[in-house]
Amino acid sequence: MSEEEFDKNRLYDEFINSVDKIGYFSHFFSSIKGSEFETELMKTKYSLIEAKFTNVLNALTKIDDIEYKTKLFINLIYSIKETRLMKEKFSTILDILNKLDNDYVKRNAFESLVDTIEGTSLLEDNLWELFFSLDSKIEVYEKMHAYSVVKDMVQAKLKKENRKTNKIFQFGRESSLYAYNEIKKLIGRNEEIKRLEANFEHILKKPENFSVSSLLIGKGSIGKTLVGRYFVRDLRRKAVEKNIRLNMEYFDCIHFRSKSKIIRELIAKYVQLSWNRGYHLNQTLLYSTLKRENRFILLILDEIHLLKPAEILAFLDIGKQHPNISTLMICRTQDWLRIKKDKLQFDEIIELRQYTFNEICNVLKYRSEIAFQKNVITDELLKIISHIVVDNENMRNGLEILRNCGSLCVKKNLDHITPDIVKETNKDIYPNFRNDLIIELRSNHHELLILFGVARSIENQGNNYTLIDDAYGEYQKICEEYQKICDDNQKMYPESYCNPTIKPVVKTLFKKHIHILTLLKMIVSKTVRNEKPPNGRHLEISLLDISETTLLVLVKDVLDKIFIPYFD
Ligand SMILES: Nc1ncnc2c1ncn2[C@@H]1O[C@H](COP(=O)(O)OP(=O)(O)OP(=O)(O)O)[C@@H](O)[C@H]1O
Ligand SMILES: [Mg+2]
Repeated sequence: MSEEEFDKNRLYDEFINSVDKIGYFSHFFSSIKGSEFETELMKTKYSLIEAKFTNVLNALTKIDDIEYKTKLFINLIYSIKETRLMKEKFSTILDILNKLDNDYVKRNAFESLVDTIEGTSLLEDNLWELFFSLDSKIEVYEKMHAYSVVKDMVQAKLKKENRKTNKIFQFGRESSLYAYNEIKKLIGRNEEIKRLEANFEHILKKPENFSVSSLLIGKGSIGKTLVGRYFVRDLRRKAVEKNIRLNMEYFDCIHFRSKSKIIRELIAKYVQLSWNRGYHLNQTLLYSTLKRENRFILLILDEIHLLKPAEILAFLDIGKQHPNISTLMICRTQDWLRIKKDKLQFDEIIELRQYTFNEICNVLKYRSEIAFQKNVITDELLKIISHIVVDNENMRNGLEILRNCGSLCVKKNLDHITPDIVKETNKDIYPNFRNDLIIELRSNHHELLILFGVARSIENQGNNYTLIDDAYGEYQKICEEYQKICDDNQKMYPESYCNPTIKPVVKTLFKKHIHILTLLKMIVSKTVRNEKPPNGRHLEISLLDISETTLLVLVKDVLDKIFIPYFD
């Protein structure tokens, strides 16, 4: 017998004799780890080793000393890292883990377990099972922790896969091109930010005298919303450092179209609910609660031209009467000029200027760095896109082009953007039409149905515009069509489909929606004198720079998502 063989036999005998001593198993496995002996043993004596391992695990549960028990458990699982045992005994290990009676200990043990299987196929193959088995096996507090640990790993795994498959976008960053929160440095707006800071500095010095009203105006897509949100986020951070309770409340009047809707939202958040208290009492309570709790609210009201002038005035008055509330309102210049504003007085009105060419280049570069992988787009191409932004005076277009270029590359399996890709995507950009609003309008499906009706009616007429009656007729038909689709769905999936009623709104309300769609610049409507009798005027509805065919495709896509859910 060679020395080596002798050694193996001695080790094996020792193992068989001592393995029932708690702690020996891990000691033994750690010492033979990675050796040929381990491979051989696992091949030839697996069932015995498995039985021994199960014994050890069970013996562990009988130990009283929690610290000791955990230590043994952790050693044990580390020792079988990357062995067949880990894979096959995984559920037993989880069972035992759950029996480690102390939460803190259990958590540590769980983390080590995760640690030992991280990066192994065990984790990759069983990730979801692990996730769900944990769900039933670990108690509530632990579950939360386990979730976050496993969630991180799922994320990491997806990230790794994304790196392999998505050569264009960084993981989860595709939507960042439209997001406001990702912006950590604001290019080209120092001046405006300084003015806002000077305006709102009270809150950081003498909060009790807080109550400022500012207005941000500027052309479309020039960065008003971003400046507002960025500034307030920064102000809030400074306030938190000084222990000042400052909350930012952002309302886009596209969704919150009246003062009472906004106030109700604030009441729901800041006032304890009680059933039979009316709106007015609640409103009073809102102000007194803020005062009592020494809490301050900075209200950002975006797209205020969708509110009535009297409502804008009312918000300004609230600020004057209640020092705990300040307002920062936002509006496009052209809309602001149209508002009847004789009584509206702001502490300061700030108008954003157009970005310079260099600033546009820098913004696009910065945003590509956030969204794309390295070397996806060259500076040359960024310059070409910046020229388009300058021509259209529209930053959002630039970002849309970047995003469309990225998506097209992914589709075509390219790893960088080429001049042809830019050319191809630039065709789908409409400088005046706000594509993103179609998605925003999801919550208001009648407006989408009406928009669809308008587009189809224009298409039917074939002369670039339509009249209110025709559009209304088309809208009614569309409601019927979708209702039919929904009813059919209900028949097909009686259990899982919640059948909505898509009843057309009455004509006066229809006209109101047309007015709002006009304010939102989704459509253009103008009153024209009749050429033929009867005398009088009629309303002509047309589209901006987007064709009716494209609009139909875009709106249909969103409507289908609302009404025709996807069933497996
Ligand atoms: N300095 C900048 N840095 C990074 N991104 C910017 C900058 N300025 C504008 N953007 C981006 O351009 C897009 C348009 O900006 P924003 O939505 O703030 O414009 P807006 O003036 O509010 O437009 P609208 O009048 O249509 O509401 C946004 O996606 C915004 O994040
Ligand atoms: Mg905006």
